[in-house]
Amino acid sequence: MADCCINPSILSADFANLEAELARIHSADAVHVDVMDNQFVPNLTIGLPVVKRLQQVSSRPLDAHLMISRVDEWAPSFAEAGLDSVTFHLEASSAPVKLARELRARGSKAGMALRPATPVETCLPLLSEIDLLLIMTVEPGFGGQEFLDIMLPKIRRARQAADDAGSDLAIQVDGGISDDTIGRAAEAGANVFVAGSAVYGADNPDQAISRLRDTAERARGGSSVE
Ligand code: DX5
Ligand code: ZN
Repeated sequence: MADCCINPSILSADFANLEAELARIHSADAVHVDVMDNQFVPNLTIGLPVVKRLQQVSSRPLDAHLMISRVDEWAPSFAEAGLDSVTFHLEASSAPVKLARELRARGSKAGMALRPATPVETCLPLLSEIDLLLIMTVEPGFGGQEFLDIMLPKIRRARQAADDAGSDLAIQVDGGISDDTIGRAAEAGANVFVAGSAVYGADNPDQAISRLRDTAERARGGSSVE
């Protein structure tokens, strides 16, 4: 199993100073960039031109989370921009296997995301086509929401299915990840953790990242001992 990764979400950063905000998270494994179109979710953030510039100035890899409706059309351009991973919502794609293959062909990891109400079974036949499964632990759209504990069985089922298939699939959780919740998500089988307010709301974001990573690694270590 891969080590735990902490990917801070810049949704909670100062959008007027993004380059400086990136410099506050040197210890991040990747930078999580939330792209919203005010159709798939009721919020609007940044698009391809801004993400391309972030890719040029960031010392850390970029992890895009596309919360947009016309994702089959847009996602390949994010991969072409050199992003480490590009994650699209299964609910928004009309051809998810084709899209995942297009992302990989352009050199990005292919990520697939599920809203809280989407059963994990919908994506299990597709696991070999993706590198990362994002299980949303809040309704997508806004930072600072409360972690949904009812998603824990879904994380467990996904990890079990990946293990059964002999796959080292990355399982990412996004929404409400904090010092209080990260251990439960890790114990359930997640190994990539997005944290917005818990990182950028801290006085020292790099310290917050290492605290989160330590807690997650302890919880994952504990779960593998059984
Ligand atoms: C919400 C976004 C998240 C958000 C998480 O739709 O996908 O990435 O930034 O924020 P926190 O960590 O504050 O819940
Ligand atoms: Zn996100």
